[in-house]
Amino acid sequence: MKYLKISVVCFFIACSVLACFSGKAKRNEFIIADSKSYEASLFRQNCAICHGQEANGKEMDGRLIPSLRYGPAAQKSEEEIYLQIKEGKLPMPSFKNQLTEEEISKMVRFIRRDLQGIK
Ligand code: HEC
Repeated sequence: MKYLKISVVCFFIACSVLACFSGKAKRNEFIIADSKSYEASLFRQNCAICHGQEANGKEMDGRLIPSLRYGPAAQKSEEEIYLQIKEGKLPMPSFKNQLTEEEISKMVRFIRRDLQGIK
């Protein structure tokens, strides 16, 4: 009985320690839905339908649309992200007729700074 109590206590201590670490490990808490920035509204209008409300990616017609926060998107250079938005890459459409060059540059900064937390 005594050992059972000790192991229950240990279990809860372990859980709270884990909760602390996972809280710290969670970065990029920028919430697009709560943001009033111009870039966030551009994202909601143009990108959320495919990349998901919070840019975490989603499945569409059996195809995985990538997250813009983690994974390959975070390995791309600003120039690559710029070109991806401007020229598109099938099945992602080109945005050169929807967004001005300045808006595309703003989206690149938005993805880097707000979503990926890269300065
Ligand atoms: C019609 C759906 C669609 C829309 C709308 C869309 N995308 Fe995409 N996007 C995709 C798909 C699919 C890919 C993956 C393309 C590939 O396989 O290379 C992608 C890839 C990307 C990538 C590269 C990510 C990576 O992991 O390599 C970036 C950056 C990106 N999109 C940004 C945007 C932005 C910013 C917008 C809004 C201006 C947008 N996308 C709108 C479908 C879309």
